[in-house]
Amino acid sequence: MSKRSCLSIILAAGEGTRMKSSKPKVLHEIAGLPMVAHVLAAAAEAGGTETALVVGHGGEEVGRVAARLAASPEIFVQEQRLGTGHAVLAARAAIERGYDDILVMFGDTPLVEPAVLLEARRRLAEGAAVAVVGFRPHNPAGYGRLIVVDGKLVAIREDKDASAAEKEIGFCNGGLMAIAGSHALALLDKVGNANAKGEYYLTDIVAIAAEAGLDVVATEASAESVLGINNRAELAEAEAIWQHRRRRAAMLSGVTLIAPETVHFSHDTEIGQDTLVEPNVWFGPGVEVAEGAKIHAFSHIEGATIASGCDVGPFARLRPGADLQEKAKVGNFCEVKKATIEKGAKVNHLTYIGDARVGAGANIGAGTVTCNYDGYSKFFTDIGDGAFVGSNSSLVAPVTIGNGAYVASGSVITESVPEDALAFGRARQKTLPGKGKSLRELRASAAAAKK
Ligand code: UD1
Ligand code: CA
Repeated sequence: MSKRSCLSIILAAGEGTRMKSSKPKVLHEIAGLPMVAHVLAAAAEAGGTETALVVGHGGEEVGRVAARLAASPEIFVQEQRLGTGHAVLAARAAIERGYDDILVMFGDTPLVEPAVLLEARRRLAEGAAVAVVGFRPHNPAGYGRLIVVDGKLVAIREDKDASAAEKEIGFCNGGLMAIAGSHALALLDKVGNANAKGEYYLTDIVAIAAEAGLDVVATEASAESVLGINNRAELAEAEAIWQHRRRRAAMLSGVTLIAPETVHFSHDTEIGQDTLVEPNVWFGPGVEVAEGAKIHAFSHIEGATIASGCDVGPFARLRPGADLQEKAKVGNFCEVKKATIEKGAKVNHLTYIGDARVGAGANIGAGTVTCNYDGYSKFFTDIGDGAFVGSNSSLVAPVTIGNGAYVASGSVITESVPEDALAFGRARQKTLPGKGKSLRELRASAAAAKK
């Protein structure tokens, strides 16, 4: 089948008014990726060699976002929303180029699995002219019903056009369809709009093909893989299903999740074998974790790379550009942004490291802050290998702490510290013997005089 060419047409001209949003529906995200990008990814995985995205009037924003995606689709505009059959024909120019298979998908059905698409394509390869992906919803109201006569799919009846008897049918159209490219335009051009909604229904090609004696078949998919999103409650439902699938895949690939339901993944999270993820961890986009790392509870991680054997959290925040090399440690209440924590370095407590390098084996004391920003620009702090920064130090960037240098606790470092030097950046301590006692007595007698 890999030899068969395939055009995926993704319909996304709907207005999505029930999202109650200024953002187009298909740009709302699941796992940090627009719904339509999930659909495009599934199409690509199912062997879709080219993709056409049909957007509505004013769909420029969808087009712009889609153009930036890995598999950037060809954009077609359906100026008037006259039905799904009409929408597919907006991509006529693409269909005319000639493909073995045409997959029609909806941009608001983000959980579609490549296997479902491949199965429909397989049926085309076996000779079907149309393969419809059916499913059995809990409540079939609103869906097109698959009319099967003598074991053969002969028509799809839209809900609004269905008779009482047809409404009893539980096998419904999931909205995904595979059409043999050789028949596609002939079938689509025969679709009319004499129906309850006055729309050109894509689903009418089933009866048209069946009447022409072509082979029309239905496959069956799970309800979740054809779940369409119309409002934000359904969006959250889809997110939950996606997360469930992803956690399971992570565990089956060798990642330990102690409380999987509390771990949030992004579409592109990568985690290596034997990594342990404790409860309540958030992976934002762009995170790569190697093997054998420990991510402790309540850590929030995005745009970060974590090498093998690293120890992160609890309550760590790794922001974009955090690069933890082998066996590095970033502990509780630490924030790291755009900084490399080299091999075996430790940033253990209550620290902010931003725009910096922490050299291999360096130790950053509790409460250290890289002062990287003056309100206008960002500046770099370079901390050498094996350096030791005492607790509660402020490193005012740009500044360099040399290899093996010591910074005394409580220092405010404004000048670079050479290799192996010891720097004190604080006022010298003054101790006055007996002065504590006399101060206390003075305060006590003043308080007594007030009574
Ligand atoms: C459609 C199917 C129905 C199926 C259901 C599954 C038709 C006629 N009906 O119904 O059999 O059970 O999906 O969810 O196909 N769109 C356009 N341009 C248009 C019309 C629609 O791009 O002119 C897009 C929408 O953005 C949406 C998709 O096509 O992504 C489906 O349209 P929608 O109106 O939601 O179809 P349903 O009535 O749900
Ligand atoms: Ca719908």
